[in-house]
Amino acid sequence: MADIAIDGIAHAAQSDELLIDLINRTGVSVPHVCYHPQLGPVQTCDTCVVEVNGRLVRACGTRAADGMKVFTKSTKAVGAQVEAFDRILSNHLLYCTVCDNNNGNCTVHNTTKLLAIEHQRIPFRPKPYEVDNTNPFYRYDPDQCILCGRCVEACQNVEVNETLSINWEDPNPRVLWDGGSAIGESSCVSCGHCVTVCPCNALMEKTMLGHAGFLTSLKKAALSGMIEVVKGVEPETGYGSILQVSEAESAMREHRIRKTKTVCTYCGVGCSFDVWTKDRHILKVAPERGPANGISTCIKGKFGWGHINSEDRLTTPLIREGDKFRQASWDEALGVVAGSLSEIKASRGPDALAFISSSKCTNEESYLMQKLARAVIGTNNVDNCSRYCQSPATMGLFRTVGYGGDSGSISDMEQADLILIIGSNTAESHPVIATRVKSSHKLHGQKLIVSDLREHEMARRADLFLHPKPGTDLFWLNAISRYLLDNDLAHTKFLDQWVNGLDEYRKSLDPFTMEAASRVSGVTEETLKTVAHMIANAKAMCILWAMGVTQHTQGSDTSTAIANLLLITGNYMRPGTGAYPLRGHNNVQGASDHGSMPNMLPGYQSVNDPKVRQRFEAGWKVKLPSTKGLDNHEMVEAIHAGKLKGMYLIGEEMSIVDSNANYVGDAFSKLDFFVVQDIFFSNTCRYADVVLPGAPSLEKEGTFTSTERRVQRLYEVLEPLEGCRPDWKITRDVANRLGAGWHYQHPSEIMDEIASLTPMFAGVNYERLAGYKSLQWPVAADGTDEPLLYTKRFAFPDGKAKLFPVAWIGPTDVPDSKFDLHLNNGRLLEHFHEGNLTYRTDGIREKTPDTFVEVSPELAEERGIQSGTWVQLVSRYGQVRVRALVTDRVHGMELYMPMNSVESPVNRLTGSHTDPVTNTPAYKETSVNLKVLPEVGENPLPRNNSRFGHPTPQNGVEVERKWKRPDYTQPGNGLVQLRTNQ
Ligand code: SF4
Ligand code: SF4
Ligand code: SF4
Ligand code: FES
Repeated sequence: MADIAIDGIAHAAQSDELLIDLINRTGVSVPHVCYHPQLGPVQTCDTCVVEVNGRLVRACGTRAADGMKVFTKSTKAVGAQVEAFDRILSNHLLYCTVCDNNNGNCTVHNTTKLLAIEHQRIPFRPKPYEVDNTNPFYRYDPDQCILCGRCVEACQNVEVNETLSINWEDPNPRVLWDGGSAIGESSCVSCGHCVTVCPCNALMEKTMLGHAGFLTSLKKAALSGMIEVVKGVEPETGYGSILQVSEAESAMREHRIRKTKTVCTYCGVGCSFDVWTKDRHILKVAPERGPANGISTCIKGKFGWGHINSEDRLTTPLIREGDKFRQASWDEALGVVAGSLSEIKASRGPDALAFISSSKCTNEESYLMQKLARAVIGTNNVDNCSRYCQSPATMGLFRTVGYGGDSGSISDMEQADLILIIGSNTAESHPVIATRVKSSHKLHGQKLIVSDLREHEMARRADLFLHPKPGTDLFWLNAISRYLLDNDLAHTKFLDQWVNGLDEYRKSLDPFTMEAASRVSGVTEETLKTVAHMIANAKAMCILWAMGVTQHTQGSDTSTAIANLLLITGNYMRPGTGAYPLRGHNNVQGASDHGSMPNMLPGYQSVNDPKVRQRFEAGWKVKLPSTKGLDNHEMVEAIHAGKLKGMYLIGEEMSIVDSNANYVGDAFSKLDFFVVQDIFFSNTCRYADVVLPGAPSLEKEGTFTSTERRVQRLYEVLEPLEGCRPDWKITRDVANRLGAGWHYQHPSEIMDEIASLTPMFAGVNYERLAGYKSLQWPVAADGTDEPLLYTKRFAFPDGKAKLFPVAWIGPTDVPDSKFDLHLNNGRLLEHFHEGNLTYRTDGIREKTPDTFVEVSPELAEERGIQSGTWVQLVSRYGQVRVRALVTDRVHGMELYMPMNSVESPVNRLTGSHTDPVTNTPAYKETSVNLKVLPEVGENPLPRNNSRFGHPTPQNGVEVERKWKRPDYTQPGNGLVQLRTNQ
């Protein structure tokens, strides 16, 4: 702590605290234009100058020290602040009344007011550049750009896409994309960080332009005229009275612009933000206070909301008549659903029905879906799409440490000094988590090892990139564990104190020598030893993995091998350590947590534990089934076997995202009754008997649980589109038509019920989650949560973790002479899964209009393929026609196909073989052959895709280059150069 006097009043500062943070904390007003707490000091604007012990310093660039005497309003300090701000105004045309950024939060406007500026000394000087409109989502206006560099800092050091810079040496500096490209042709990934942090209107969301203000939709000529008028009166009236007018206009906006907090609907990172709306128009997404993301988003969360007001939205229930559907009232449709479910239950028994909950829906909705299945119908046949991705990771953690969730938080990944990423294209599938790793790696010396088939962005950034043969991760992971144990590099103290099963585990590692691992995986022994030593030398390591691990026949075992490796190296129980299976969908964690699983009631409580059942039976006042139900893979088999006759599915495009899609589609067409609830007429709806229009996340309340076990509230941003209903209401109404007598009027009542029945969520309630507050489960009754698990004990009765031996079986469906190529698949940054939501955003479709298959340069040369060549891929299960993209991201005989297609889904090619422990399909074990078709089309990635860009990495905004300009002088040479009203 340090004692500091600010304007004569004593304050206690934390040692090393930035003066600007201390000043802000104490409520003293000091201008600060370029400083943003999430960016740190960039020191470009000089407006925060204060007098410390008689010297002028930048408050944002100075650390608090004991005994400092700070004067924020001395003549010298204010003179320097005003001088610095005057320079800023020379770069910015003040036209607040007709500016879409005049929303009470414009830093330039507010600083003009704070400093009581009446007239500029340095007149505004336009820059010799055009406005850049070439990105579909935002535009840059050089004339409004004050060169604060916040955007550059955000792009270089927070997002770490390294697209932006400022040409400080140029006579007319400006922000540059890729050193001088049009935005639309640059490496910009449209994450929106730069737009979010811009303190004025230089970078703005296009959805704001012409919509936010009362006068801003005027034609350009009229606007220019008005700006001229304002400029004309300024010498007479000064800025004070002009600002009063703009503030009145800004105040009027508050009545028609709503700002509502929500949680992103796409991936499991759990970004949260305010959504600004005017009627149903989405003005912008404003991230700032999200506990997982702060100012960060990716293209989908920031700009991918075209689905909300899409004309394709389902707005009325549909009932099948022959090959067609007809519109129906809710009353009729719910009647048919309830009638058909009752009929099947009566004639074939409850287990002839099955329920699929959505990991896009809320926790409360998932809870109701499994309650409908169990308590109303009487079956445990309920599952969710974590079966397709996360169940093996959960199993690996259940076996070893006890909880099926990430062992820490995103902040732990930031703190680790070594990150090992296995089978995760993190920069595209979990972009905001990737930013934290990229940033720690770039700025704080974090080491990064990546193991993957593809040389994606994280692989290219890694200190060490391994490319094992497909499906061999278990082998090399076990070999590293053995090597560490054999060479006394394991953490024996930790093992002694906290881990059971070492002897048996050690024995199980016998076959896993480095020599054998190298032979099986194709990674050299030397590289594997380097990995082992990097792990042994790391003080704190996190392992991140995803579907490149889990979607294999040994997905559960490989996840277990990862957890074992973390245990023998003592990488649990401390900040910066642990296991992070990155959850795919926004609420895939929550769907399982809340009981949409055939063997678990909410909170991972087994259906065959009589005590657990009794608690739920007492709460729900019904008798519950005790035997495990069917998972969604088994459901498909049971339909084919004639045992399963009816299904109720919410918000899952199962006919495309399940493996062996043709087989799944055939199953659906055999059902006696199939009800699908969705917001669009998905491919799966084609098989339905009744289609019910649900509501997207922006049109309802509830909670989502992200990958770091973080439960967060979403609020209703927009009323449900006429004809649609929030999914919890639909499920409630179906249940009530079946005689359930549910009285829920608000999702908070459902959460209260969950908390009362589920120890893991005992302390969760809506009050504790209000606004941006969040809880990371388990949550004790008093509301204490656990951002880092296992700080005191592991989640087993004796408090110790278990080493769980896993043997090597090897992948199925390996290439042979007939199917000679390995096909990998996964996500693309811009799209979510098959793209049912993201294709509805024009800008996303423009940048990534279609799927493709990535072909290595070697294979392309051998087969005469170029980017755009149409090829036919044929597997043992089906075929698709798709355009090739030749890229060195893939090597040799390995192909990669992103999932974003309904017309040519990769799952027409994947098979039905699964991980036997969890029944998760082995999507990543698919062999195909490739036939070159005669047509050559356009490159499937258009030229305006960011992958064609050329980033310009540098160390942030590099303000030192500005300070070296011959025309730069530090403000405050004793001159108060402006006339103010003070
Ligand atoms: S990648 Fe593009 S949108 Fe994201 S911060 Fe950089 S320039 Fe801005
Ligand atoms: S565009 Fe960048 S440099 Fe210009 S004002 Fe906005 S954040 Fe500052
Ligand atoms: S898709 Fe994921 S990373 Fe992107 S904004 Fe949404 S939650 Fe964040
Ligand atoms: S806020 Fe300190 S230099 Fe800009």
